[in-house]
Amino acid sequence: MAENVTNFFISKFRELLTPEFSEPAAYFRPRPYRNAAVRFTSCRFDDFEQRRAILEKAGMNVFLFPASQIPGCDLLSDSGTTTMTMEQWSRMLLGDEAYGSNEGFFELKDQVAETFGARWSENLFIFHQGRAAESALFSNLSGILYDEKTVAFGPLDSLSERLEPGLAASIRKKIGILQKSEAPLYIIPNNSHFDTTAANIEKNRMLPLDLPCREHIGGDADCPFRGNMDTQALSNLLEAEGDRIPLIYLTITNNTGGGQPVSMANIRAVAEIAEKYSIPLLFDACRFAENAWFIRHGETGYGSKSIGEIVREMFALVDGFHISFKKDGLVNIGGALLFKEKGRMQERYPGLTNRITDHQILTEGHPTYGGMAGRDLKGVVEGLRTVVGQEYLDYRIGQVRRFGQRLQRCGIPILSPVGGHAVYIDIDGFFEGTDTSDGDFKGISLTALLMIAGHRFCELGLFAFGRYRGGREHPPDPRVNFVRGAVPRLAYEDRDLAAAAEALRILHEHRERIPGVEVTYGRELSLRHFKSRFRFKAGK
Ligand code: F0G
Repeated sequence: MAENVTNFFISKFRELLTPEFSEPAAYFRPRPYRNAAVRFTSCRFDDFEQRRAILEKAGMNVFLFPASQIPGCDLLSDSGTTTMTMEQWSRMLLGDEAYGSNEGFFELKDQVAETFGARWSENLFIFHQGRAAESALFSNLSGILYDEKTVAFGPLDSLSERLEPGLAASIRKKIGILQKSEAPLYIIPNNSHFDTTAANIEKNRMLPLDLPCREHIGGDADCPFRGNMDTQALSNLLEAEGDRIPLIYLTITNNTGGGQPVSMANIRAVAEIAEKYSIPLLFDACRFAENAWFIRHGETGYGSKSIGEIVREMFALVDGFHISFKKDGLVNIGGALLFKEKGRMQERYPGLTNRITDHQILTEGHPTYGGMAGRDLKGVVEGLRTVVGQEYLDYRIGQVRRFGQRLQRCGIPILSPVGGHAVYIDIDGFFEGTDTSDGDFKGISLTALLMIAGHRFCELGLFAFGRYRGGREHPPDPRVNFVRGAVPRLAYEDRDLAAAAEALRILHEHRERIPGVEVTYGRELSLRHFKSRFRFKAGK
């Protein structure tokens, strides 16, 4: 070999490796995987009129649009939409479908200990997905709290004077728009609750309260950890109303807040506050590996640690977590609820594990399979191994980031820095300068037009999180107004996402022509974005 020549080119190749996550390096690096199976789309891309007709029939609700008619990117959710690896499929073929204590159950316990730490494998409750775990936790916790004969405090509108006025006002406002006949006495704080988590909390007579950090939205765009919790607000809440707080939650990454990560420093600070008041701290851990990647790449002192080490450090700080394996479990179905051995959850609620076991038997199945097939448990085990791989995560988060950068280059305002699993289009910014009011729900209009273009996005803003009570709309507080493009794991190539970006570019260019929508059905319903129907407003 002519070493001087090959050396020259090797050094040129090396130069092309940095900066790692932007062009041209991003395109010089190949994907760390290749396709082992493909699914051809069965519909024509250029049949825009047919999609318009289908959409009209679906009342412009993208959840009701048949997936088989989407030729482009289906970015409705990153949940359960993962392409599984050959290793996962091969392990699933070896699934053990015994009724009790199947092989997959023991493998999952071992994998949980390896991924999250040794103290996590004893109190492992399997569920078929995340919200089933949420329902089990909050219904049984509420049972314990309200069974206690001595609830020593009154309704939430008699709040302590020590509570910071802004926080008190926000709690009162939330109570005002609750549909419950029985007012909640307890509060569950979180950086931001996901919609099903909040709904499960409310259903069980507790108030879900979001305490996002100040940099969260509309704040410092350079802050790498905009998913953090406002620790000052949390301290004030516990100081003033500690008896009403049965547990504290942190959602990693913060999905409702833009898929933004939570720093190790923030997790530690929240854990210290929880410890001071002896209150259990739990993760909503759906995207734990993506969160760990951000810590490795954005927080001082973590650059040389492996993702696995960072994950174990994060989970050493909490007493419990629930997880939907449909995200960072890299599977199409599955979830779990876990309490740390000898953690504060067990200490404070000793009867809870037995109640949850009963709940599981009544609603899901024997605790050793919890509503999942034995083969699916094996898929989760393999998924948990794959997801902490540095190369997998570099590519995964890099891809979402490149999608965001492409949109920004087209002038489309997005939440930045881009989070782990999705790009969040800022709808207030998108329609700035046009004749638009909140009641137009232009996020819904945008998802409808994107659907006609061939791509499915999801409105997560004034319609999804707002409420219609007392004859008027109440926007979410704190205000969020996004359309989300959630990128399924291992499913799309950058080329596909570029096509979706192109559709958005055209829509943004002609944004003043996009009308608002009228809600023709379901405006006042709970979880209304899953059920409502719309039509474009005439003449606006
Ligand atoms: N918590 C978070 C943070 C989530 O993002 C989700 C689901 C859940 C809990 C519930 O899990 O779907 O398995 O019952 N998020 C999906 C999404 C649906 O599109 O963001 P699940």
